Amino acid sequence: MDCVAVGFSKNLQNGRVMRALVNEKDIVLWRSRSGQLSAWENRCPHRGMRLSHGFVRGEALACMYHGWHYDSEGKCRYIPAHPDLDPPTTIGIEKYFSFEKGGIIWVDIRNKTGGPPIVENLIPIRSMEFHCKVERVERVLTNFESPSSHKSTIRFYHVDQRANTVIVKIKPLGKTLHLIFQELPNFRCFLHALSADKCEVGQYKAISRCLDHLRRESETQLDILK
Ligand code: FES
Repeated sequence: MDCVAVGFSKNLQNGRVMRALVNEKDIVLWRSRSGQLSAWENRCPHRGMRLSHGFVRGEALACMYHGWHYDSEGKCRYIPAHPDLDPPTTIGIEKYFSFEKGGIIWVDIRNKTGGPPIVENLIPIRSMEFHCKVERVERVLTNFESPSSHKSTIRFYHVDQRANTVIVKIKPLGKTLHLIFQELPNFRCFLHALSADKCEVGQYKAISRCLDHLRRESETQLDILK
């Protein structure tokens, strides 16, 4: 996948750091105090510590090991053990192209500036990890139904599929759901579910239960495709 969804924007607040895997590459995502998003290689150039363990200091990210500070360009600006030193400009971290669209954070490690194939004005529902491959979830989705708490059955009707996204219509709720996949190593994947329509609390809960059911079905299917 080229442009990969790595999480909901709302889950990375200002001043916070998170880790993501994009095509098996370890990435640190962080948002400065003012809200600027950055995606970098998750490795400190000093001694290799994961930067996702670090702390946001204003508009910089500080490594937790020896506290080196990196600005939003990935350049080292401050070394606590040598406070008077102007760090060499050669000390820097590999940056990746990242942006936000449809309530999702996207990363493209090829550093292309093209956007994701779809998604505008979607409402984040849930982001969840599946212990199986994307292909298996897609296959379960082709004929998926889930009992609801009201003894009726909720069905997903396949509407469209583009790149890493499956779009389904949910009946009888009458909602359209965008299911965006993020592949992970070791037969795992993330599913980021977003609704094209506003949902009432009850509908939100019903969809969330369906997604739990989808995960159980996908993870327990007995066949050779993990
Ligand atoms: S390993 Fe990051 S500052 Fe030393």
